[in-house]
Amino acid sequence: MNILYCSSEAYPLIKTGGLGDVSGSLPGALQELGNDVRLVLPAYPEVREHAGPLSSIASLTLSGAPQPVEILKGQFPHSRVELYLVDSPVHFQRPGNPYVQEDGSDWPDNAARFATFARAIVALALGEADPHWTPDLVHCNDWQTGLVPALLSQHGTRPATLFTIHNLSYQGLFPKAAFTALELPDTLWSIDGVEFHDKLSFLKGGIACSDWLTTVSPTYAQEICTAEFGYGLEGLLKYRAANLTGILNGMDCEVWNPATDAHLEHTYDVHTLQHKALNKAALQQELGLPADAGSLLLGHIGRLVEQKGVDLILDTLDELFQLPVQLVILGDGEELLESRLQEAAARYPHQLAIHIGYDEPLAHRIEAGSDCFLMPSRYEPCGLNQMYSLHYGTVPIVHSTGGLADTVIDLNDMTARDYTATGFTFEPDTPAALLDACQRALAYYQGSRVDWWKLVITGMKKDFSWSNSAQQYLSLYERVCQVTPEGDAGPGNLDYPVIPPSPLKGKSPPQQSMMR
Ligand code: ADP
Ligand code: GLC
Repeated sequence: MNILYCSSEAYPLIKTGGLGDVSGSLPGALQELGNDVRLVLPAYPEVREHAGPLSSIASLTLSGAPQPVEILKGQFPHSRVELYLVDSPVHFQRPGNPYVQEDGSDWPDNAARFATFARAIVALALGEADPHWTPDLVHCNDWQTGLVPALLSQHGTRPATLFTIHNLSYQGLFPKAAFTALELPDTLWSIDGVEFHDKLSFLKGGIACSDWLTTVSPTYAQEICTAEFGYGLEGLLKYRAANLTGILNGMDCEVWNPATDAHLEHTYDVHTLQHKALNKAALQQELGLPADAGSLLLGHIGRLVEQKGVDLILDTLDELFQLPVQLVILGDGEELLESRLQEAAARYPHQLAIHIGYDEPLAHRIEAGSDCFLMPSRYEPCGLNQMYSLHYGTVPIVHSTGGLADTVIDLNDMTARDYTATGFTFEPDTPAALLDACQRALAYYQGSRVDWWKLVITGMKKDFSWSNSAQQYLSLYERVCQVTPEGDAGPGNLDYPVIPPSPLKGKSPPQQSMMR
């Protein structure tokens, strides 16, 4: 099949979070299964810099874009996946984060930026940008590409569309005036198009107008159909439930492999687990913690936003640090959380090390050096760090939600006895429940060494590679392409219960862009 994979980020060219990891590895896995997969990204400066040789294949005049948009073609690094870049300098040729300015607020022209990105993708999808290639299916990801299925739904002959929700709380919501300014087709301003409580929702465009929907774990696929997780979109999602599939993300086992990881001084695998202790000692030294082999070293890496529950960790510290426990946290994001973490580190210099910033090599060393990994996320569509942790023999302690519930098997009497446990899960998402899970982990760590290593090794042996999930996507692509592209999605065709414009009841308020 010919597949056009559309994303606003892809590791190693540009990454702010898990979307970058997935978009950097799933296209390659699909290519390995015998498909012609091409990835399209915005031509941010760092992407252009690291993408290798590029050639211009088209110059497009797109409505809403003040200047012609060039389509550049090259090769995605370390793969056979071909790369298209949408080069609209006025929109993408600027330093810094793809979504937010230096002060953390959204780029003010995000609607125009990602509408231009979408229009360029539509041109590629319809064979107007690369006359030598057209896709059978266009796979879109998150709000930044949500207008693609919406715009394509206006065409009689078009490729099939699939839209993946990585995080429902990032919606690409803009005032109604943006809809007019972007010169979007009038038919899209409807309850079964991009209109959401009188605003323009890029995300809703993807949900309402794509032929098929996926999200990144089976549990999250169910959760988003409820008021607690649906942000007012649950009615539409429930209506589309027959066309909504949860497929667990895979992980890139070359980038995240403790046996070959170039960021580690002491690589290891299940047969050389004694090297893990060397990584623990190195991490303690690097981050200025006492070299105490007997303390349980907990790690946490993530965007400092409400979703990830770092505040829950902060609220346990006074009790947690009564125990022989150390904690390292790597993250950046909301200023309030950053300063609360710094204050806590000043209070507990021998037990808490905080590194504010984005640091890929340090993330690898934390995965390798920690004994346990904390993910108290309030919600987690999939989550990748718990899978990296399992692979690195670092026992996850997670709130039982979304992809965390689907990937971590709680240690209890039964799973301890038959050695199926891989970590510790807790519910509800409260400091008390988190603390209780940490206490359970510490007790197990201080108990039988044999039992602890069995827990570690069971996790390390789990297969989270892309092979299974990529195959699931492929089966779905084939199924979606068999259905006529003029299927029932899109404006004028959906008849779902409208949610009255009441205050949204989500797990945390909907966000605009990824914080970074
Ligand atoms: P999300 O996409 O919601 O941020 P995921 O668990 O899916 O969460 O993926 C997060 C990815 O971003 C992981 O690869 C993680 O290691 C990485 N990451 C997050 N914050 C940082 C940071 N401050 N430094 C380095 N890597 C980070
Ligand atoms: C989102 C989610 C995260 C998921 C990632 C990749 O950012 O928050 O849970 O792992 O996307 O799908």
